[in-house]
Amino acid sequence: MLITFEGLDASGKSTQAELTASRFRDSGEKVVFIREPGGTELGERIRSILLDVHNNIEPIAEVFLFSAARSQLVREVIRPALAQGKVVICDRYVDSTTTYQGYGRGIPPESINAINRIAIEDIIPDLTFFIDISLDEIERRQRTAGKMTDRMERAGRDFFERARNGYIELSRTEKRLKVIRGERSPDHIFAEIWSIIQKELHRSSVG
Ligand code: ADP
Ligand code: TYD
Repeated sequence: MLITFEGLDASGKSTQAELTASRFRDSGEKVVFIREPGGTELGERIRSILLDVHNNIEPIAEVFLFSAARSQLVREVIRPALAQGKVVICDRYVDSTTTYQGYGRGIPPESINAINRIAIEDIIPDLTFFIDISLDEIERRQRTAGKMTDRMERAGRDFFERARNGYIELSRTEKRLKVIRGERSPDHIFAEIWSIIQKELHRSSVG
């Protein structure tokens, strides 16, 4: 089973992805937990290029770099883990390219969809949780965390608004994508996520 977590920066994806991974581990499943971009040696190198504020990267080059990291991850880690019956949990995946590079940077959807398909082939998530919080809440959390902003985080508020709208539009067409209200306590959010996972497991076991 492949479960992915999506949303804007600081929406609480990693917190929820980690809670999900440890709940699966507690129930005896073998879990592979990864973050994008990254998760392989090549992917981590590409990640540092993408996030480095000193790099001037053309939007289409950005698509190829994220997709190169993902192509490696799918073939080196995700496909083999799924073949061994493991649960794979991914903090960001292909929808991030659709929303950030497509809606955010304005790369046409035909190009994004074609590149995404080549990168992931048939490895489509069973479930995707889009943790949705407002731009104001994101800014509040980022101020509280006080960490240095990376190259992507410098894109500006309009960019993040477009990316958020992208997630909302995607959730209307993709059944696997569940919108989760992120402005609640982590425990409340996780209870909803875990109940959706339980339903999906039940649904796939009864066919
Ligand atoms: P992301 O992976 O989306 O960047 P994180 O899980 O790292 O998000 O969380 C970003 C920040 O928000 C962290 O400081 C974290 O402690 C805080 N946070 C996470 N979940 C919540 C929540 N439900 N409510 C309030 N703050 C949260
Ligand atoms: P990261 O620190 O992992 O951010 P977050 O904690 O919010 O996930 O940095 C990854 C950044 O790269 C983040 O701003 C989202 C962006 N990104 C894209 O623009 N396209 C993509 O395909 C992926 C995977 C990430």
